[in-house]
Amino acid sequence: MSRTRIHNFAISLDGFATGEPQTLETPFGHAGQRLHTWMFATQYWDPSGSDGVDNAFARRFDHGMGAEIMGANKFGPPGWGDDPDWKGWWGPNPPFHTPTFVLTHHPRPPMEMEGGTTFHFLDATPAEALEVAREAAGGLDVRIGGGATVVREFLLAGLVDHMHLVQVPIVLGRGVRLWDGLEAVEEAFDVETVSSPNGVTHLTFSRRAVA
Ligand SMILES: NC(=O)c1ccc[n+]([C@@H]2O[C@H](COP(=O)([O-])OP(=O)(O)OC[C@H]3O[C@@H](n4cnc5c(N)ncnc54)[C@H](OP(=O)(O)O)[C@@H]3O)[C@@H](O)[C@H]2O)c1
Repeated sequence: MSRTRIHNFAISLDGFATGEPQTLETPFGHAGQRLHTWMFATQYWDPSGSDGVDNAFARRFDHGMGAEIMGANKFGPPGWGDDPDWKGWWGPNPPFHTPTFVLTHHPRPPMEMEGGTTFHFLDATPAEALEVAREAAGGLDVRIGGGATVVREFLLAGLVDHMHLVQVPIVLGRGVRLWDGLEAVEEAFDVETVSSPNGVTHLTFSRRAVA
């Protein structure tokens, strides 16, 4: 059974998944790289990095994944829809290596990249997008890649089976919050936490089986 999974999604103590403003120069706004320094220190990211608990979580990102769904603001800075040459932040060989569906109200033709990533642009509800992505994933899982708005939409629709969050001990104060409108969302999940020696907390939300 193909599952819907979220991995390595980092939030501040006050629940922000990005700062502001999001621009070409500052994709995470005033958060800079602070939400992801834990990951840059792992072997998953850098061969000379650590092989501890953070690495064990980080490397689950790719495993068994057949497609990704992301939001328009993860794909590019405000206004990318006006630039026909914008192909995402990641260069010619993006790190997804699967069909990747960008939810946007300004769809454009698909873009085939190196390394197995093809960007498809969809104006669709979460359920419709998931149906298309599942088909493309060929029985493998579908990752919801963020940002916060899209993760929140999928949680609200009850379409997330597994979510790995990384709570980073910083207070951002402003940006895009994950939790707004999600009161008691945890009740549908078994929640586990693991503290890492470097100060972040890994939270896993695994959807409870319906009795
Ligand atoms: N903390 C992390 O681990 C993490 C992970 C990934 C990304 N990020 C960061 O998060 C930020 C982006 O997050 P965000 O919350 O601002 O935005 P987002 O979730 O990436 O994208 C939201 C946008 O996607 C489009 N969209 C969403 N749902 C749609 C639907 N059902 N149909 C059609 N279009 C839809 C809309 O854009 P339009 O109306 O403009 O088309 C909407 O404004 C970036 O800074 C990114 O770097 C953080």
